Amino acid sequence: MGKIIGFSGSPTKGGVMESAMIKVMESSGHDYELIRLSKKQIKFCTGCVACASTNQCVFRDDMDELLKKFMDADAVVFGGITRHNGVNAIMKNFMERFSPLFHRKMLSKGKPVAILSSGLATAHEAYRDMAEFVQNFRMEEVGSLETGGNASCYKCGFGETCAYSAFLAINGKDAKLSDDPYYYFDRDSECVQKAEDLGKSIAKRLKEKN
Ligand SMILES: Cc1cc2nc3c(=O)[nH]c(=O)nc-3n(C[C@H](O)[C@H](O)[C@H](O)COP(=O)(O)O)c2cc1C
Repeated sequence: MGKIIGFSGSPTKGGVMESAMIKVMESSGHDYELIRLSKKQIKFCTGCVACASTNQCVFRDDMDELLKKFMDADAVVFGGITRHNGVNAIMKNFMERFSPLFHRKMLSKGKPVAILSSGLATAHEAYRDMAEFVQNFRMEEVGSLETGGNASCYKCGFGETCAYSAFLAINGKDAKLSDDPYYYFDRDSECVQKAEDLGKSIAKRLKEKN
């Protein structure tokens, strides 16, 4: 039985990203752990490049534990959400702190990973940011999944009246929030199927490796 670690960049407990990640990891049939990066203390990379000679960061924070979990995992799932047309800062900050694995040894090389992204309209932008990171760190992308998402305008209280409402822009000026505009991963049967297939692809990859 292999171990899969899922690193979620979403701050939403039980939200779209967590639901999608759990579905993928469960479908693999392997043991898994979901880590909420929003709960971790991760300092910003300062670019001091001390890790070039030591393969270790000068900071002692939760990244020590997270990089160890990454290294020990048989496969990894990265879950990033889209904010302002790019991967959100929680995931981006986490990715920037991978530099100690990169220099000279490329310790991340060959790690099987699945990339999950979600967004109201531009989940692909978050995917792009994570996929480039995965390529640069010579990890192996087993597959990816892009889900729908939810606008902050659904719950800010001004969704039906604000001149800049994404809710009205998408659904028309007379749209009502009572029509429940929310995207629920579990109700998107096509996406759920893709998540199950991705989980099985991870399992297949782990079988090939062993
Ligand atoms: C401040 C903010 C900015 C966002 N920007 C985008 C965006 O540029 N493109 C997009 O498709 N979704 C955008 N979203 C929607 C999020 O990506 C969506 O809430 C997320 O995918 C849902 O995942 P969660 O339930 O795990 O939070 C934004 C959401 C917030 C709160």
